[in-house]
Amino acid sequence: MFDALSLAPEDPILGLAAAFNRDPSPAKINLAQGIYLDETGRTPTLACVRRAEELLLQAAPPKTYLPIDGSAKFNDAVADFVLGPALRAQLGPRVAVVQTPGGTGAVRLAAEIVHLLHGGATAWISNPTWPNHPNICRAAGLKPAEYRYFDAQTKRRDLDAVLATLATAARGDTVLLHGCCHNPTGDDPSESEWRTLLTAVQQRGLVPLFDSAYQGLARGPDLDAFPIRLAAEMGLSFLAAVSFSKNLGLYGERVGALLLVGADAEGVRRALSQAKAVVRTAWSSPSAHGARIAETVMTHAELRPLWLGELETMRLRLVQMRQDLVRLMTERGFGSAFAPLAEQHGMFALTELSGERARWLRQEHKLYLIESGRINVAGLNPRNQTAVADLFARALALG
Ligand code: LMR
Repeated sequence: MFDALSLAPEDPILGLAAAFNRDPSPAKINLAQGIYLDETGRTPTLACVRRAEELLLQAAPPKTYLPIDGSAKFNDAVADFVLGPALRAQLGPRVAVVQTPGGTGAVRLAAEIVHLLHGGATAWISNPTWPNHPNICRAAGLKPAEYRYFDAQTKRRDLDAVLATLATAARGDTVLLHGCCHNPTGDDPSESEWRTLLTAVQQRGLVPLFDSAYQGLARGPDLDAFPIRLAAEMGLSFLAAVSFSKNLGLYGERVGALLLVGADAEGVRRALSQAKAVVRTAWSSPSAHGARIAETVMTHAELRPLWLGELETMRLRLVQMRQDLVRLMTERGFGSAFAPLAEQHGMFALTELSGERARWLRQEHKLYLIESGRINVAGLNPRNQTAVADLFARALALG
């Protein structure tokens, strides 16, 4: 029966992660999947998470189902974290939150809601972007189309190109915006550019869909929420998918949420009811354990500051690894190609190490990165960074 199916292509990120895990070489280095690694090359379980799990073990909450839209305590804490308590209070019933399986679940749910609003609308997606974005939009019935975001020559974002494309978008189309730590470039709009961009979105009647999977890892949790908070302050109605995979290190626990922000309580009530109807047919209700960890950390008088400190440590390590890589590549004669990395944010950077060069690095030297040339700077550490820089220089010299 299944012979009637064609073989789907391997996911460019998760397929590579699986290949890395299968690789028996002790010398292998992982700059592929977006997972935070510490200076010893391990993905830490944060101390705040371990403490929260101890508290949960003692409390032993029942393993019954959560409601369709998830844990109310979690959703409440998420709204405060993303919007800030003052703006959140000001918005009142103009905000609803649905707990989702990771950020991916939130983006999918958002795309489904856009499809319910404007069937078959075009979803304007950054070029380049996370490879899953167009697939998710397509799966939800939207038509993916690209706005050029990054200029490969200058290695910087190109806001004029974004605005020129959005000027051709139709009312009701959705525009997918990376909240911070743009994936794969790390190049985020400035605050004034966000203002310009969101004004254009508002004037054209587009539906903003934020994907914010890295809050806290660019400039800090409050500054990183700037575009989402600005959209709310401007009176825009929008959807924002958020994830606690990276900033709380809860990857496999699949902890995410979708924020629905509307013009009035009635619109949000309708949107929430539709979101719940979609969830019931997809995953019925979200899983409880990860959300309980997150809500415990976010609402506990001691665990919250512990978390914010650990988040800041991760952020600063990413900044350090970026600066070190720029220095090492400058010493090897590739300063201009790598200089922008020091101003960009988060885990990812888009390098010229794409295609053949990426394959050479992986096949000959067990250095894994995505074939687009995206690297995860969290995979760098003081022990491997010189060897990585040497290999990068050799790969770039391949021509
Ligand atoms: C990435 O871009 O590597 C991460 O967001 C992980 C993923 O699911 O692709």
